[in-house]
Amino acid sequence: MRIGFLHSLIRKDEKLLIDEFRKRADAELVPVDDRKITFTLGNDKFDFDVVLERCINHSRALHALMLFESSGIRCINNSQVALTCGDKLLTSRALVQHGVPQPQVKVAFTETSALQAIEEMGYPVVIKPAVGSWGRLIAKINDRDAAEALLEHKKVLGSYHHSIFYIQKYVEKNGRDIRSFVVGDDCIAAIYRSSEHWITNTARGGEATKCEVTDEIRDISLKAAHAVGGGIVAIDIFETENGLLVNEVNYTMEFKNSIDTTGVNIPAHIVDYVIKTAREAQ
Ligand SMILES: Nc1ncnc2c1ncn2[C@@H]1O[C@H](COP(=O)(O)OP(=O)(O)O)[C@@H](O)[C@H]1O
Ligand SMILES: [Mg+2]
Repeated sequence: MRIGFLHSLIRKDEKLLIDEFRKRADAELVPVDDRKITFTLGNDKFDFDVVLERCINHSRALHALMLFESSGIRCINNSQVALTCGDKLLTSRALVQHGVPQPQVKVAFTETSALQAIEEMGYPVVIKPAVGSWGRLIAKINDRDAAEALLEHKKVLGSYHHSIFYIQKYVEKNGRDIRSFVVGDDCIAAIYRSSEHWITNTARGGEATKCEVTDEIRDISLKAAHAVGGGIVAIDIFETENGLLVNEVNYTMEFKNSIDTTGVNIPAHIVDYVIKTAREAQ
């Protein structure tokens, strides 16, 4: 079988996946560099059983997935999952639609209505770009002065993406959150990400330690994965007095810090799933 490996820079995660694919005799991995590929709309013929998406840039990933799918290729994850997970507003909407608990979210489109929504929610709140990752440009707002200043800065200096205000209740999470990994129907592993900073992303210095996949973690992770359309996803979860809440779902999951930490061969699980899907698509 032929597997298209859609990538940009080959990071450690991609290297681990490539090494794992090389161990599988029946899988031919064909690299597809998103910096080099061109599409000819209506005339594309790709000889892949499946495409595995590992881009860094969300809009490249999303549009490439849509075009591969238009030419009849099955993709992991599919473009609908990328669309939903790539946008925190659409993710929250999907979680609501499927009854998955999450922190309170408000959305507004102007400075004035956003300030009103923040005041209604009560401080602290977190404002995030709907499209973004690695903890970039997310802001915790503790009082009205900060809210006014941040909203003005976004209006004056922000790009189009900053004109949709995604406002989330700040969750007291005692210095850590949970990142769980879902592959198909299985929650294969989870880590805690701990930090003295309220932003716990490992890309921002959060420390990864093993987290047992309890029934509660498995249950909410699979529900969140199902809500966004399934596939291979990583879920950010907050622990609260009232149970677990899903913060967001990531669709091009990074796992390099989580293999030794959890003792789970995450790339092997991903490759198994991709090969199984490719076989079904043949
Ligand atoms: N509402 C919130 N309450 C508490 N901490 C939050 C909240 N939102 C985000 N964080 C912290 O910031 C991190 C990054 O936020 P997240 O929504 O996951 O964005 P990104 O896509 O940049 O990872 C989270 O892992 C968490 O540590
Ligand atoms: Mg996150």
